[in-house]
Amino acid sequence: MTLLEGRHALVTGAANGIGKAIADRFRAEGAQVSGVDIAPGVEFRADLAETHQLPALVDEVEAVGGPIDVLVSVAGIYEPAAAVEMTLESYRRVLAVNLDAPVVLAQRSGRGMAERGYGRILSITSIHGQFSEALGLSYDVSKAGLQGATRTLAIELGPHGVLVNAVAPGFVQTRMSVVDGQNELESDWFRTIYVEHGKLPLRRPAEPSEIAAHVAWLCSEENTYLTGQVVTVDGGVTVTF
Ligand SMILES: NC(=O)c1ccc[n+]([C@@H]2O[C@H](COP(=O)([O-])OP(=O)(O)OC[C@H]3O[C@@H](n4cnc5c(N)ncnc54)[C@H](O)[C@@H]3O)[C@@H](O)[C@H]2O)c1
Repeated sequence: MTLLEGRHALVTGAANGIGKAIADRFRAEGAQVSGVDIAPGVEFRADLAETHQLPALVDEVEAVGGPIDVLVSVAGIYEPAAAVEMTLESYRRVLAVNLDAPVVLAQRSGRGMAERGYGRILSITSIHGQFSEALGLSYDVSKAGLQGATRTLAIELGPHGVLVNAVAPGFVQTRMSVVDGQNELESDWFRTIYVEHGKLPLRRPAEPSEIAAHVAWLCSEENTYLTGQVVTVDGGVTVTF
């Protein structure tokens, strides 16, 4: 387990779920991890909705831990609302955390990576970057936007040795699966549609560590030629009709 030996990685959303699994896997692969989250249990506490403070956050992380070789943006929020009733505050908050923060963090850390001629940037999007759902307008827009940003960053930073990708999970067992107190992955409709009728070929949600395994490889030196892509890690749910 030495995929990331000697690398310094900034991982957002590292206090819980997929971000925590990525931070754990990165450490197991030899990386030094600077975890960022609004919740406790990380090296740097910060609210990623405070967009203007993010360049200074990158500077602080680099002052403490050294140059960032790998940026992984995982933190995300979902605020369900009917499109015609959604408040502007909610819409802006979701876009700030899910889209603006990864972009600004990539800008600030990407400059140094390009100067040093090496870097890996990866964002966790979602199958909602490609497919939409009622009540999910702000989330769907944020994930589709981040996939667009991934491609542009890959084009601009590629000549400087910086590879930029996204991983789009489907269903993952985390607290985000709990909406209005109910775990969607244990609901009758999930069992009927996705498991019994086979809409989900692997018939089960992913564990966060199963997402982290792909992220570790994509962010390593082993990945020398895959850039600008959205890698869908969804148990096959998006290939069924
Ligand atoms: N769980 C799923 O089924 C699933 C599927 C597809 C994509 N995703 C994406 O995976 C990512 C991680 O989600 P998760 O399922 O691990 O959820 P989670 O809620 O367990 O983790 C999200 C983390 O982001 C942090 N965070 C939220 N707002 C923040 C803010 N303003 N500033 C700093 N940190 C903040 C939270 O504190 C938390 O630690 C998200 O981007 C989500 O959209 C999740």
